[in-house]
Amino acid sequence: MMKEIFLHSADVQLTKPLATSWLAPSNIAFIKYWGKKEVQLPVNASLSMTLQNALTTTSLQAVPADKRSVSFFFEGSERPDFLSKIETFFQRISNYIPWINNAAFTIKSSNSFPHSAGIASSASAMAALALALADADAQLTGQPLDDTFYRKASFLARLASGSAARSVYGGYAAWGSHAHLSSSSDEYAVAINEAVHPRFKQMHDDILLINKQPKAISSSAGHQLMQQHPFLQGRISQANKNFERLCYAMTQGDLDVFAEIVENEAFTLHALMMSSEKSFSLLHPNTLLAIHEIRAFRKQTGIPLCFTLDAGPNVHLIYPEMYYDKVKPFVTESLTRLCTGETILYDNIGKGPRKIEKEI
Ligand code: DP6
Repeated sequence: MMKEIFLHSADVQLTKPLATSWLAPSNIAFIKYWGKKEVQLPVNASLSMTLQNALTTTSLQAVPADKRSVSFFFEGSERPDFLSKIETFFQRISNYIPWINNAAFTIKSSNSFPHSAGIASSASAMAALALALADADAQLTGQPLDDTFYRKASFLARLASGSAARSVYGGYAAWGSHAHLSSSSDEYAVAINEAVHPRFKQMHDDILLINKQPKAISSSAGHQLMQQHPFLQGRISQANKNFERLCYAMTQGDLDVFAEIVENEAFTLHALMMSSEKSFSLLHPNTLLAIHEIRAFRKQTGIPLCFTLDAGPNVHLIYPEMYYDKVKPFVTESLTRLCTGETILYDNIGKGPRKIEKEI
């Protein structure tokens, strides 16, 4: 079992202070992770594109101590309200990195995007923290920052937030075991860039900020509602089919099938919310108006612009970079007016996380 490579001896101890800083991007899922089992294992395989501009930077310092303690600072201010989430994460990983039980941590984090923007931040935040911890561990054990290191970082990130497991890689990543992808695992994400057609190498994700209000229902509550969802089995088989078809479309460079599946997944995510026992919707009227405009534009022009949605009302515009000059005027004329404060965050496929020298 792969899990064994992540376990190491309890003899590894922190004997002197160490520090590291990592920058990790957010990602946008094309096949959605919605519903989990046991400890942070997905009910279906998901697939995402890592972004370039929406980033979290995290500096971690660890000092030897009798027992574990954590201080957390977000954008310069101490934030004890984040500690319970970090503590749950540390408890989950303490079997894999036992020395964290004898360390005093100072963690400082900041985002490249405004925190009120309503774009998901747990993926980038938890990926940056997991990478910093995996790196601190690698410094102690002498492990190089190779593929195994990134797999371990993804495994740790998953235990903080499922979508964070995918942010450990640049380009495209898949998380969750799928018969079609032999390297896939429920325990960690894998990069899936090699077979991707050149048409998918330069993609945009321009985010229409439809509404910045905090979510009425958290993603965690949404995942929980999936456990009793009347459509759970149907969703799992749909996701498995969509995953396989999307992988095939991406190796063939088929933008039409890509658009069909990506939009189907976006609608399914919100349909699952609406049809769960405690029904809810995170959509805004302008979300639907934007979708209507996007589909009409695609029909009229033949330009393969499609949309996806996260767990919120904001609309992500997905299209190849080569169409930017044609998409931009359409966005300005027809979509900007649907955004709060007329805000659009222009983003692209990104190269993934990296270690940085400067502490924040
Ligand atoms: C809708 O990763 O935020 O963004 O594992 O509970 O932290 P936790 O959930 P989270 O769920 C993200 C769900 C999604 C779809 C996706 O990114 O695949």
